[in-house]
Amino acid sequence: MSSAALKVQSEKSQLSAQKLSPVIGAEVSGVDLRQPLSPETRDELHQLLLAHKVLFFRNQDISYEQHLAFARNFGELYDHPTGGLDKYRTIQPIDAREFVKHGYDLRKNHWHTDTSWRLNPSFGAVLRAADIPDVGGDTIWANGGEILRGMPADLREQIDSLYVIHDYQDALKKSGVRYPLVAHPIIRTHPETGEDIFWVNWSLKPRIVDLDRAESDALLARLYDEVKRPEYQVRFRWQKHSVAFWDNRAALHYAVRDYGDYPRVMERVLIGSNDIPYRVRPQA
Ligand code: SIN
Repeated sequence: MSSAALKVQSEKSQLSAQKLSPVIGAEVSGVDLRQPLSPETRDELHQLLLAHKVLFFRNQDISYEQHLAFARNFGELYDHPTGGLDKYRTIQPIDAREFVKHGYDLRKNHWHTDTSWRLNPSFGAVLRAADIPDVGGDTIWANGGEILRGMPADLREQIDSLYVIHDYQDALKKSGVRYPLVAHPIIRTHPETGEDIFWVNWSLKPRIVDLDRAESDALLARLYDEVKRPEYQVRFRWQKHSVAFWDNRAALHYAVRDYGDYPRVMERVLIGSNDIPYRVRPQA
């Protein structure tokens, strides 16, 4: 594919999006996230998000207020029960020192989606690099549609009508929150694009409904091998003032913990949604 073919230039504004991998992720330029977005630019960014699933912005020295204002263009902000910054509750610091405090274990790091324990998980997130190591601490996103399309047919058939439990009960109890245990379809149909998306969260003790524990674990292990394929991924190297904006309904992500005891801090704003994941089946 030529680089020209990879470039989407908008006629309506200065926005341009350069793909960072053939299947997911584009770096967007021509927008200043410190400024309010015009409705046209907001709509174009929304369309770019649907097309690329994760958008990256460089050299965006945004304040807390500008971070929140940018995210608010795409929906109501979600106030996570585990809390946020004192002055800005909807900005959640993701602080590596917390991993160390709770016993750093690389094997507890998983491919996941955000807030999938909710009946209506978040639409997406805007993540800002607050303090990052010189090298390392990248984040990877995987295209949930590509994962599904790339799967062996027998595996895809096996998961076709299955549901998986998303269990965040321990953390919720610690925060004094009661919320019922939720299961979602393993394959969800994207509410805007209609694309079928593979959507399992390995951070939330997944267990497949109607299978016994051993069967569920075996199937999930086979599925995890599919999720991990680099062909479905984009890996983003953070720099000072980088921002990522992703569609949580379409992609899984993984934060690489390869930076030792560096106190990496990211700041995340979650955008809420009323959508309950569902599956639309083609008419027979
Ligand atoms: C997240 O998992 O939402 C944050 C990703 C990161 O820390 O890079």
